[in-house]
Amino acid sequence: MSKIGIIGSGTVAQTLGAGFLKHGHEVMLGTRDVSKLSEWKLGAGAHGQTGSFSDAAKFGTIIVLAVKGSKAKEALDLMGHENMVGKTIIDATNPIADAAPTNGVLKFFTNLDHSLMETLQAAVPDAHFVKAFNSVGSPSMVNPSFDIKPTMFICGNNDNAKNEVSKILDQFGWESADFGKVESARAIEPLCMLWCIKGFTQNSWTHAFKLLTH
Ligand SMILES: NC(=O)c1ccc[n+]([C@@H]2O[C@H](COP(=O)([O-])OP(=O)(O)OC[C@H]3O[C@@H](n4cnc5c(N)ncnc54)[C@H](OP(=O)(O)O)[C@@H]3O)[C@@H](O)[C@H]2O)c1
Repeated sequence: MSKIGIIGSGTVAQTLGAGFLKHGHEVMLGTRDVSKLSEWKLGAGAHGQTGSFSDAAKFGTIIVLAVKGSKAKEALDLMGHENMVGKTIIDATNPIADAAPTNGVLKFFTNLDHSLMETLQAAVPDAHFVKAFNSVGSPSMVNPSFDIKPTMFICGNNDNAKNEVSKILDQFGWESADFGKVESARAIEPLCMLWCIKGFTQNSWTHAFKLLTH
């Protein structure tokens, strides 16, 4: 059992929070306004708590970052950089801009030579960011019901942190594909754009990616 500090109060934070509880972990969800999470807390049981961003960051031996992408750097400051030193930070964020999609294609505020996770990793060099959970919709994040195991593309600079995240993904019914260091987030973050096109144009939101190799 691990202590998981989840930064966020939205769908992703609540979904992953419930997933970690289901798999026997202790969870604290962090928000700037705990009243948003009163219902989640009621359903969470004895192992689910809520607190501030810094409470949740301090609590977690593993941290999940699940905030609006454009506010992720601000969130790191509120979490307190000292609460992240040496810890694995599962980064589920996507750098989605506020502008509307074009023909179902989301707009990003990053570019193909610099990802959001690189900005976050540079802001807290002593933390071990691992991109994960960003390329699928929240309903499929925990033990999805596909006929075959879907693939979660992950990346990050620290191998131990990636191993830790792979074990969690295994519990959550995913195979993980390690696609390299932090710069690989330049390719993994846009998978969110690809995933969302099918949603916006076909109103179909239940798919996931699978990596085939031979
Ligand atoms: N929705 C999905 O299915 C999905 C799938 C994959 C990845 N993602 C990514 O996961 C992340 C979370 O998505 P979501 O849909 O659950 O929620 P969201 O609406 O994108 O974000 C909500 C969170 O952002 C925080 N936030 C907003 N403004 C802030 C600010 N100025 N400073 C600090 N924090 C701020 C909120 O904090 P408070 O709690 O304090 O209000 C809240 O916890 C996003 O980056 C999204 O792109 C989403």
